[in-house]
Amino acid sequence: MEKKIEGDLDVAKFVYDLEVSSPGRINLIGEHTDYNDGFVLPAAIDKSITMRFRANGSITRCTIKSRGFDSVLVVDLAKIDKGTEGWHNYVLGVLNEMQLLTQGLKGFDCEMETNVPAGSGVSSSAALECGLAFGLNELFGLGLDRWQIIKLGQRAEHNFVGAQCGIMDQFASVMGRNNHSMLLDCQSLDFEYIPTHIDPYVILMLNTNVKHNLATSGYNDRREESSSGLKIISDRFGVPNSFRDITMDMINECKEELGDVRYRRCSYVLEENKRVLKAAQHLRKNRLVDFGKLLYQSHEGQSKRYEVSCPELDFLVDFSRDWKEVLGARMVGGGFGGCTLNIIHKEAIDDFMNAASEAYKKKFSIELSSFQTVPSEGTTIIKKHG
Ligand code: GLA
Repeated sequence: MEKKIEGDLDVAKFVYDLEVSSPGRINLIGEHTDYNDGFVLPAAIDKSITMRFRANGSITRCTIKSRGFDSVLVVDLAKIDKGTEGWHNYVLGVLNEMQLLTQGLKGFDCEMETNVPAGSGVSSSAALECGLAFGLNELFGLGLDRWQIIKLGQRAEHNFVGAQCGIMDQFASVMGRNNHSMLLDCQSLDFEYIPTHIDPYVILMLNTNVKHNLATSGYNDRREESSSGLKIISDRFGVPNSFRDITMDMINECKEELGDVRYRRCSYVLEENKRVLKAAQHLRKNRLVDFGKLLYQSHEGQSKRYEVSCPELDFLVDFSRDWKEVLGARMVGGGFGGCTLNIIHKEAIDDFMNAASEAYKKKFSIELSSFQTVPSEGTTIIKKHG
């Protein structure tokens, strides 16, 4: 049951048992590598969704209010179907997966508010999925661990939202740590916290404020192109069907059979994986100039070889190249819009933003927006009563 009910939950009087904060994420480098058995280097950010929960005594009736959208979703746990409105499927998908896994949910009320910009490549969706799963797990004592919550969030997205996402976003949102990024091996799921202190540089996100319709279909297409390419190569050489078991030489030998598109997709994956490992090494040693160069190379790969960028993102990355105060820049997340991430000297922020906004507006007639961020704590309980 999906309804818009005005005034069903009186926010001012909302007495809750539990308050949870669940952050969005950035990714320093390693794009579209998570679902290709690769490496990623994300971090949770200091923008999050805050969710308040209470058990409402009902067996199956749940209400979820989004302050931002000013609407209430009412769900009957005995009958969870896909919804029609944007954010509803993230919620419904999580409830569905939690019921399948635990059968332990009961009626609850939830209200949420967020300062994670939606549709900007910083994964407001994983913040929502993981915050909801984390909160309900706590509220009803379901005993799920963090990895179960991460994977459940991913399945919700696959099964209800329709994006065949990898594991990076949910992982980063749940596992984030203050002042650390995380090098994750998406094949073994081993990971390492890397201290990320970049002063006098900071992470500045520039939001193109474009969201291309292609995002979901383009994403799923890329996934298909890289995996069908991989299959051709692994079949030909009789090796396991994993990007970790093929080499650039093998890709080159299959060039004709792969065709231009699959060739570029597969070679991008190997190149990007190498860049992530190198970047992690630079970060450990605080070699920020070398680190920044890899961000530019990564963007080049996303734009030309994996083709997940767009003119607005390319423009902002190119624009930053003329600024010696910017060590590196690249698009972040699934692509086709959203934000670029810039490693910029803190004293240059204002001048750079003014110049970039003016140039961007002139070119695309769109206002640029921005925010500064730092690697932050993952999903956490803020308050628990009783
Ligand atoms: C989206 C997906 C992630 C990842 C990135 C691209 O954010 O949800 O799993 O694939 O795109 O790196």
